[in-house]
Amino acid sequence: MFPKKFLWGAATSAHQVEGQNKNNDWWSWEQENPSLESSGRACNHYEMFKQDFDLAVSLNHNAHRFSIEWSRIEPEEGKFDEKEIAHYQNVIDALLERKIEPIITLHHFTNPVWISNKTGWLNNDTAKYFQRYAEKVADSLGRKVKYWITINEPMVFVHASYLAGNWPPQDKSLIESYKVMKNLIIAHKLAYEKIHQVFKNKNLGQPMVSIAQHFHLFHPCPYGIKFLNRFPAYLRNKLFNIYFLDKIRKHLDFIGVNYYTRDFVSFNLLNFREMFGYDCNRIHSHQERINSLNWEIYPEGLLEILDMLRKFDLPLMITENGICTQDDSERWNFIKEHIKQIEKALNAGIPVIGYLYWSLLDNFEWKDGFAPRFGLIEVDYSNFKRIIKDSAREFAKFIKSQE
Ligand code: FCB
Repeated sequence: MFPKKFLWGAATSAHQVEGQNKNNDWWSWEQENPSLESSGRACNHYEMFKQDFDLAVSLNHNAHRFSIEWSRIEPEEGKFDEKEIAHYQNVIDALLERKIEPIITLHHFTNPVWISNKTGWLNNDTAKYFQRYAEKVADSLGRKVKYWITINEPMVFVHASYLAGNWPPQDKSLIESYKVMKNLIIAHKLAYEKIHQVFKNKNLGQPMVSIAQHFHLFHPCPYGIKFLNRFPAYLRNKLFNIYFLDKIRKHLDFIGVNYYTRDFVSFNLLNFREMFGYDCNRIHSHQERINSLNWEIYPEGLLEILDMLRKFDLPLMITENGICTQDDSERWNFIKEHIKQIEKALNAGIPVIGYLYWSLLDNFEWKDGFAPRFGLIEVDYSNFKRIIKDSAREFAKFIKSQE
């Protein structure tokens, strides 16, 4: 049995579900690259959030993670849009009315265009702008929100946008990546302090503030010279999974854990940009079970991550875990197997406080567009009709059985 107060639910992010987020850098990038699918109206969740939360509550969810779109709240530098703030107040109220615990993310990959026009996260001032935005949100929307994620997957953002050049602004620079990482660390700390200060000034009790860290498991390839393969696996784990958390250790009230997959790594002295290694998944056919984006399904990895996080001595919340597949019967297996690992973690005394499936709805999967289907609820993009999947019903039954 799971603890009575365990948080069960799903997660989304603004740009992936709301639609028409025209004032952010992703939207501009989509327009500049016609070969990419554009987020367009996405799931039209901006208009349909109440209906979507009705579905969530019918599926026994008692928690929901969503992100606030910075570019809606502050479309121009220093000018806050009260109408958009009222919109998110309605979103929070709609969750609370349904007895669903809101978990707010402040930054989920997208940036207001005015931020990217000032060189985005390469600009040392961006951390201060982010703090001002965090303060505005905490001040106007914070009253009944306990859980806060400042930044979603900072290391994925650094890697995809500044090192691998896959996402806007498509830079490929180690030096820039380092700079951005440093600024994100500062931004988290400033936002953390501000949220706590707002709560204190208003006598709102203690907020729980964290980041949602993407944990990617790296295992040394069992072929070749094994002890050499351990080196890049170790380095990647240190840098990608742990470094950021170590740096913000004193500014964390819990840890948000996003977990999807693992990679096998082989040693290559010349590939210093990728920590002296390369992914050998395909070459050695390591991955037996994969999702529709070719990510390996490896539930045991979740326990490995949770165990690794013991040293932080903080509550852990699974803020994302999910599978994209056309075959929905795989989805409940996926969820069930990961929940089993959480149960093992709890039995071993690891304090896990919640599980949020990615995602409530099928949605806009960034560069991969609308093809990957992660949702518990299917979205027909031609008319925005929602169809509850069987896996969602199985998950709902499971949650009920824990009450
Ligand atoms: C995570 C992101 C989320 C979604 C899932 C599939 O890395 O946080 O927005 O794209 O992957």
